[in-house]
Amino acid sequence: MQHVDILLINIGQLLTMESLGPRAGKEMQKLPMIEDGLVAISKGKIAYIGTSDSRNDFKADIIIDCEGKLVTPGLVDPHTHVVFGGSREHEMTLKQQGIPYLDILKQGGGILSTVTKTRDVSKEDLYKKARFHLDRMLSHGVTTIEAKSGYGLDRQTELKQLKVAKQLNETHSIDLVSTFLGAHAIPKEYKEEPEAFLQEMLAILGQIKTEELAEFVDIFTETGVFTVEQSRKYLAEAKALGFDLKIHADEIDPLGGTELACELCAVTADHLVGASDEGIKRLAESGTIAVLLPGTTFYLGKDTFARARKMIDEGVIVALATDFNPGSCPTENLQLIMSFAALKLKMTPEEIWNAVTINAAHAINRGDVAGQLVIGRQADLVIWDVPNYQYLPYHYGVNHANTVIKRGEIVSK
Ligand code: NIG
Ligand code: FE
Repeated sequence: MQHVDILLINIGQLLTMESLGPRAGKEMQKLPMIEDGLVAISKGKIAYIGTSDSRNDFKADIIIDCEGKLVTPGLVDPHTHVVFGGSREHEMTLKQQGIPYLDILKQGGGILSTVTKTRDVSKEDLYKKARFHLDRMLSHGVTTIEAKSGYGLDRQTELKQLKVAKQLNETHSIDLVSTFLGAHAIPKEYKEEPEAFLQEMLAILGQIKTEELAEFVDIFTETGVFTVEQSRKYLAEAKALGFDLKIHADEIDPLGGTELACELCAVTADHLVGASDEGIKRLAESGTIAVLLPGTTFYLGKDTFARARKMIDEGVIVALATDFNPGSCPTENLQLIMSFAALKLKMTPEEIWNAVTINAAHAINRGDVAGQLVIGRQADLVIWDVPNYQYLPYHYGVNHANTVIKRGEIVSK
C-alpha cells in the first residue's frame, strides 16, 4: 500500500487532457477522460491516475470524496493584463453614448488613463492590487496565467510592472508567465513619433532579458496605435534578442496582424476578430496559436466575434483567455469566457476544454508543465461542482470551482 498526501476518489469525470502537443482543428474534439476516476497526490506531484478500483492501494493524509463531480487540470489563462493601477468605470457612460474604444484612446483616455494611474502607484500598492485579482482568478479555478506589462510606456513603469509580476510568480500560488507589452499605446510624450517610442521600448529589452523579467514580447497592432510595418520591425528585433512573440492582432480593424504573426512564427496571435481568410489559412499552416478573447468582443459591444468555427475547421490551434484588463474586459472569470465561447464562438464543450487547458498552456510555452494531468507532473487541478464537462459552459456567470489544488496544496475551497 502506498502512502500519499491527498487522494481524490469517486471522480465522476476526470479530464486528463493528455496529449503530446497542442490540439489543432478537429483534434480539439478529443477529450481524454476517465470515468469513476481517482487521483493520488504526493509531494506536490501527481503520483497516480486511475479509477476508483485502485482505492485500496492507497493510504492518504487527506481523502477527498468527489461524489461524482468533475475534475480537470487547473485552468490556464494565456492572455491577461493583471498588473495595473486604478480602474475605468467612468468609461461605461462613454460606451453607453456609443463612443468607440479607439476614440476614447485617441482622446487620451482608455489605455492612456490606466498608464497615468499605473505610473503614479507605488510598487507595493501595484503588487497588492494585482494579488487581489490573482486571488479571484485562483478561486475560479485558474492556476497558471500570462501577465502583460504595457501600462507604463516608459522604462521605469514598465519595469515596475514586470517586477511586480515576477514577485507575484514567486509569492502567489498562481504561476505567472510574463510578456513585455511596452508597445501597447503611444504615450503623449511621443504622440508624433511612434518610431522613436518603439526604439525607446526596444532599448529596455536588454535589461528585461538579463533580469529574466519577460519571456514574450507583444505589440498592439491596430488603427491609431502601431501599423503592421512598425510591428514587423519591432517584433523582428525582439525576436533577434531571444524573445518569443505575441501580437494583439486584428482586434478591431482587420489590418493583417494575423498574417504578420504567422510570418514571424509568433507563438500566438491574439483577438483575431477581423482575421482574414488568408490569415486563418496561415495560422493553420504555421502552428501559431489563435488566442481568442470573446469576453472582450462582448464587452466592447460588438456583434461580430472571431471566426472560431472556421479556424477550427481549417486546422488552427485555438486557445481561450479572459484578456483581463481595466478597459476592454474587466473580469477575472475564465469560466464566463468558456460560456461566451459556447454561445458566441459556437465552440463545442470538448473544444472549449482543450482551449483552456492544453492549448492555453502551449500558448505560453508551458505545455510541459500545465494543462494536463500526467503522473509525475505538478498537481494543479480543480474539483468542479458540476455533474459533467458539458455543464460548465452551459450554466453561466457563476463560479463552479469547488476545490482548487495547486502544486499538491488545497489553495481554494
Ligand atoms: O487586449 N487592445 C489592447 N489591449 C487590451 C485592452 C487594454 C485596455 O483597454 O486597458 C486588449 O483589449
Ligand atoms: Fe489584451
